[in-house]
Amino acid sequence: MSLKLSDADFFRLRDFMHAKFGINLAEKRILIEGRLNMMVSKRGYTDFGPYIDDVMRDPTGKEVSVLVSKLTTNFTFFLREEGHYDFLTHKVFPVWKNDGPASIRRIWSAASSSGEEPYSLAMVIANSFANKASRIKIEASDISQYVLDIAKAGVYNGERISKLPPDWVQRYFTKLGEDEYEIKPQLKAMVQYRYFNLNDPAHWATRSYDVIFCRNVMIYFDQATRQALSERLFDALKPGGYLIIGMSETLVNLKTGFKYIQPSVYRREA
Ligand SMILES: C[S@@+](CC[C@H](N)C(=O)[O-])C[C@H]1O[C@@H](n2cnc3c(N)ncnc32)[C@H](O)[C@@H]1O
Repeated sequence: MSLKLSDADFFRLRDFMHAKFGINLAEKRILIEGRLNMMVSKRGYTDFGPYIDDVMRDPTGKEVSVLVSKLTTNFTFFLREEGHYDFLTHKVFPVWKNDGPASIRRIWSAASSSGEEPYSLAMVIANSFANKASRIKIEASDISQYVLDIAKAGVYNGERISKLPPDWVQRYFTKLGEDEYEIKPQLKAMVQYRYFNLNDPAHWATRSYDVIFCRNVMIYFDQATRQALSERLFDALKPGGYLIIGMSETLVNLKTGFKYIQPSVYRREA
């Protein structure tokens, strides 16, 4: 039996997701019904109402995390939008190579999903900096505990790593079984994972990062949420730092202090 979302339940779910995560579901009623139907009925609910009550009441946050994973996409892959890694390698890292021995650079993967993005950063850094890679710290965060757990485990199947150069697979993964590859400990140690909600104004660092990857997440947010987020991202960067967004995203309609460098790459100059 297919469950129908009542007007009242649709509105409260839409308002809850918008208020808590900035996720805009105003036009997504059919998507919500489609993506949640099976899971909600399998768990014994005969109506969306009590399920939504339980999600909102759950003190552990686990239910919300599952809901978010269902309603957004965690789609990602290693070296996605490869031009960004080339930009770092050819335009940013050569400058960092002149840093003194005590200097630390920080990169933040701000919607890291299941880890492919921060581990791609770690591989690119390891390739460019060899034994000096520990001077570059990678932080990675997401609102879905589910994907953060996958990221921390760092185990991927052959299909997921198939686009990586074979010598990188050799260097950075341990083959566990027939079709399982685990990120090597030294690469895992380069990435610190944590839960972080980009739509929550609390706990933002200021002037902290040299590079922020905030890719393929703004698409879920409405204009006001994007505006607020872009201001926080600006403040979180050190002067001279770069913001990298998804290649199909833009800051064009937002008022920000960023300088446009090239499509999807922006800089905080001062
Ligand atoms: C499509 S994935 C993008 C992954 C990676 N950045 C990439 O480009 O391949 C979007 C991720 O954004 C996360 N997300 C959605 N809303 C968020 C929020 N308010 N704060 C932090 N992460 C959020 C989702 O959980 C999901 O893992």
